[in-house]
Amino acid sequence: MVTTLLDRIGSLVTNDPSYGDGSPLGRLTDAALVVDAGGSVVWAGESRNAPAADAYVDVSGRCVIPGFVDSHAHLVFAGDRSAEFAARMSGQPYEAGGIRTTVRHTRAATDEALEANLVRLLAEMRRQGTTTVEVKSGYGLTARDESRALALAARHCDETTYLGAHIVPAEYEDDPAGYVDLVSGPMLEACRTYARWIDVFCETGAFDRDASRAVLDAGVRSGLGARVHANQLGHGPGVQLACEAGAASADHCTFLDDADVAALAGSQTVATLLPGVEFSTRSPYPDARRLLAAGATVALASDCNPGSCFTSSMPFCIALAVREMGMTPDEALWSATAGGAAALRRTDVGRLTPGARADLVVLDAPSHVHLAYRPGVPLVADVWKSGHRPS
Ligand code: NIG
Ligand code: FE
Repeated sequence: MVTTLLDRIGSLVTNDPSYGDGSPLGRLTDAALVVDAGGSVVWAGESRNAPAADAYVDVSGRCVIPGFVDSHAHLVFAGDRSAEFAARMSGQPYEAGGIRTTVRHTRAATDEALEANLVRLLAEMRRQGTTTVEVKSGYGLTARDESRALALAARHCDETTYLGAHIVPAEYEDDPAGYVDLVSGPMLEACRTYARWIDVFCETGAFDRDASRAVLDAGVRSGLGARVHANQLGHGPGVQLACEAGAASADHCTFLDDADVAALAGSQTVATLLPGVEFSTRSPYPDARRLLAAGATVALASDCNPGSCFTSSMPFCIALAVREMGMTPDEALWSATAGGAAALRRTDVGRLTPGARADLVVLDAPSHVHLAYRPGVPLVADVWKSGHRPS
């Protein structure tokens, strides 16, 4: 088996507290990593103890972190909504109904155009250090268009989410209950083989508590894991529903009351914060400190989508989380890596210790703190995915 030693790592974040400084980041200085040709980490530790390997890479004192795990993105779509963004920046509010604009463009697009846009965005994410991405459907809203979105996504990602319950499409405006039956029945049947997860936008103007529960239950009966778009535009039942349904994640969490925070802290449901959405919709940021103090697990994700937030940059989200949501640079990095892995119930990514996938980022910086300290600066020097450095 061919092994590679990455040596002279100035600062190595393992996300395993049994390593290095004993913090949740398990940070080592003057460190090394060994990865094998199968794409796994086989050794992590101080340079001076590193075993011999077949190949050698000198990291020259830079920082190495786990690849970002972006656990929430909507990348299968067509069309541009920059005019809607510009209108928002002139004072218009963000409304869930904007989704229908993208639905029209997506239905009209060819498979080739949708796939090309998806591949372009995944490459854009990779260049910025993201090595695991969850991709949702939700801009097709017919059995045919949702299943084609998921089939395309499944060609490129192993985390795919069926979001037929994104909004009630225009043709079902007078029969929302009929649409919930479609999403929970024939559309689910057409989509389930391409999806690992089911998601619902539980919000005023989208799906209420009962409809959301019906959709999640149908998905779970079909073998999918649950996730929820919750409490984005106002306080609502989404977070409580996510916790009751055993969802892996409640995403957005912009408007939380004390009972929501307690429910998240007392459950296996990760609170996934999407600070790019608050930035791009001029909404108030949730207080991450409140969730962390209560003991909730917090993830950070991009929510990359053409409407509420069109960034693909996890470093940008980290900088926002630190500046606007009260997170420390250490907490924000953990949430963007190990937190994202927890939100996807993955143990093989989001850490750099033996047995993990060798998905890692070399930063042109002495430490991960620079991700927030130098906002907007392209610090990602190199990205390794499954032990391979793309040429
Ligand atoms: O996560 N909230 C629902 N869905 C997306 C926005 C979709 C859109 O505006 O196109 C979100 O913010
Ligand atoms: Fe979303």
